[in-house]
Amino acid sequence: MAASDLRTHHYDVVVIGAGGAGLRAAIEASAQQAKVALVCKSLLGKAHTVMAEGGAAAALGNVMGEDNWRVHFRDTMRGGKMHNNWRMAQIHAQEAPDRIRELEAWGALFDRTPDGRINQRPFGGHTYSRLAHVGDRTGLEMIRVLQDKGVHAGLDVHMECTIVRLFVVGGRVAGALGYFRETGRFVLFRAGAIVLATGGIGKAWQITSNSWEYTGDGHALAYEAGAELIDMEFVQFHPTGMVWPPGVRGILVTEGVRGEGGVLKNAAGERFMFRYMPEMFKGDFAESEAEADAWVKGERKKNRRPPELLTRDVVSKAITREIAEGRGTPHGGVFLDIASKQSPEYIKQKLPSMYHQFKELAHIDITKDAMEIGPTTHYVMGGVKVDAETQESTVSGLFAVGEVGGGMHGANRLGGNSLSDLLVFGRRAGLHAAAKRGPPPSFPDAEVEATMRDALAPFEHEGGENPFGVQAALQAVMQRNAGIIRDQKGLETALSELEGLKGRARKVGITGSREYNPGWHTAIDLRSLLIVSEATARAALERTESRGAHTRSDYPDSDERQAREQIVIKKEGDRMAVRREAQPPLPADLMKLVKEGA
Ligand code: FUM
Repeated sequence: MAASDLRTHHYDVVVIGAGGAGLRAAIEASAQQAKVALVCKSLLGKAHTVMAEGGAAAALGNVMGEDNWRVHFRDTMRGGKMHNNWRMAQIHAQEAPDRIRELEAWGALFDRTPDGRINQRPFGGHTYSRLAHVGDRTGLEMIRVLQDKGVHAGLDVHMECTIVRLFVVGGRVAGALGYFRETGRFVLFRAGAIVLATGGIGKAWQITSNSWEYTGDGHALAYEAGAELIDMEFVQFHPTGMVWPPGVRGILVTEGVRGEGGVLKNAAGERFMFRYMPEMFKGDFAESEAEADAWVKGERKKNRRPPELLTRDVVSKAITREIAEGRGTPHGGVFLDIASKQSPEYIKQKLPSMYHQFKELAHIDITKDAMEIGPTTHYVMGGVKVDAETQESTVSGLFAVGEVGGGMHGANRLGGNSLSDLLVFGRRAGLHAAAKRGPPPSFPDAEVEATMRDALAPFEHEGGENPFGVQAALQAVMQRNAGIIRDQKGLETALSELEGLKGRARKVGITGSREYNPGWHTAIDLRSLLIVSEATARAALERTESRGAHTRSDYPDSDERQAREQIVIKKEGDRMAVRREAQPPLPADLMKLVKEGA
C-alpha cells in the first residue's frame, strides 16, 4: 500500500457524522468562516436523527404556559436519575427554545397550535406538553432543514466515507484516515479540530431501532485516540419497538403514540402500568384510568399524566416483567392500543408514519387494532467525556456531540431531549471547534501507511471466517448478557465471549475487490463493535446498583453513594482500564430546584 494511493485534504474543521449533531456543528463552524468538511458513513440525510420521530423537547411554553427551563432541567435530572452532568442539563434546558425557534426561521414546518404557534405534545417524563413536532416525522424534518442550510453554507460533503483512525500528536488531534465505500480508496483529512458526531452503538444488539451505520465508530475512534469514555453501562431500551413479523423486529414505534393517548395492555387486557409507579414519581401521575382518560381528553393537570408516560427505563422494565411473568402476547410483546382512545382521523393526522408503518409492514390498521410491541435498543447515554461548555474531549481539538458525547442524559434520556441536545451542543461544538483552527501537527506517512495496511488485512486472510458470522455472534452475546436486565455472571460471560470474538475478528477473511464490498465494511465495523461492547459490559459489571437504564438483578436497588459516580473507560496500552470518578455536586440552588420543584 503506497501513500500515492491516497488523496489528502486540508481543513480547519472536520465533522465526522452527518446526522443532526454533525450538521448543526458544521453549519456553526462554517458560520465562523472555518473551512469545513462533513464526512458521512452513509448518504447525506440518512441518519438516526430521523428515528426521533415524536419531537424535540424545549420549554417554549406554547401549550402549557407554566413551562420554563427550570422545570425542563428538573425533569431531565430526575429522568436521568440524578446522574447527569448538571451543567450540560442546565445549558440544554436554557438554550433549547432558541435553537427550536432558529430552526423554524431556517424553514422547519412544525405543527401549529390553533393560534399559530409551534405545537407541543406530551412525552414520557416531561411535566408539561413540551415536544415541538412535525406529526411523527420530526427528526426527518430537522434533517431536511439542516441539510438545506448546510449545503447553502458551502460545506464540503464526503459521502459514504468510513473513518478508521484519528491521528493524535502530543495530545492534539491532527487528522483522520478513512475510505470511500464505493471505490475502496483511502482519504486523509488533515485538520486541527475534529468533531465526532457519529451517533450510537445500537448495532451491537440483535433487537434495535438503529440501522447498519450505528456500530459505535466515534466511541471507538475516540477511545483509540486516548480520550475517555463515560457512562457506557447506560444503554436505553426504548419501550416500543415492533415485534412482529420477525423481519421488522426492533423498528421504532414512536413514544408519540403514548403521547397522543395510546395505552399499554398485557395479553389479559390489563392496563398494567398503574402497577409500576416508582416512589420518585408518585403524585405526578394519574392513579386510575378515569384520571388518565380525562388527561388525554384535555384536562392537562400536570399530576394526572397517564402512567404510560413514565420514563422509558421504567416502562421498558415493566413490559419486560409482564412478558417474563407470562402475560405477554403470542409473539413475545405487549399491546399498544390507541384505537380505543382516539378517532381514526386524529390518529392518521397525528401519527401518519405509524399508520403506514403498521399497514405496510404488519398488515395492522392501528385505527382499529392494537399494535404488538416490545423494548428495542435505541440510544446510548454513555459516550466520550466532554467539557460541558465546549464539547471538547480530553484530547485537545477532538470534540464529541450528540449521541457519541456522554454526560447530558445521565442514567436515562427523556424522549425528545436528543433532538434538542444535538441542536444546542451541535452549535456549541461547531463554535469551539472553529476557534481551535490552526495548522495541525504533522505525523509521519509511515503511520498512515501502516493504518491502510491494517485496514486491508482481511483481504489477506484466505479462507478466513465470514465477518457477518462474527457480527451475529457478537449481537447474540450482547442481547443475552447485556440487555435490559443484567447480572455479574452474565456480564462476565459476555466479557469472556467477547475476548473469543476478538480473536475471530482478527482472522476474518474476505474475497472480491475493494469496490463496494460489504464483507470488508463489516470486518472494519467489527473493530468498533468489539470496543463498545466491551466498554458496555465492563462498565455494567463495575456499577453494582440499579439506576435508570442499567438494571442489575443481583443489585436491584439504587445506591445513593454511586449516584454521582461515573465509570470511566480509558485505553492503557492494550488494556481497557476502568475507574470510578466522582462528578461535581449540583450547586445548592439547582439541587433545591430538583428536590422541591420549580
Ligand atoms: O419515540 C420517539 O419518537 C423517539 C424519540 C427520541 O428518541 O427522542
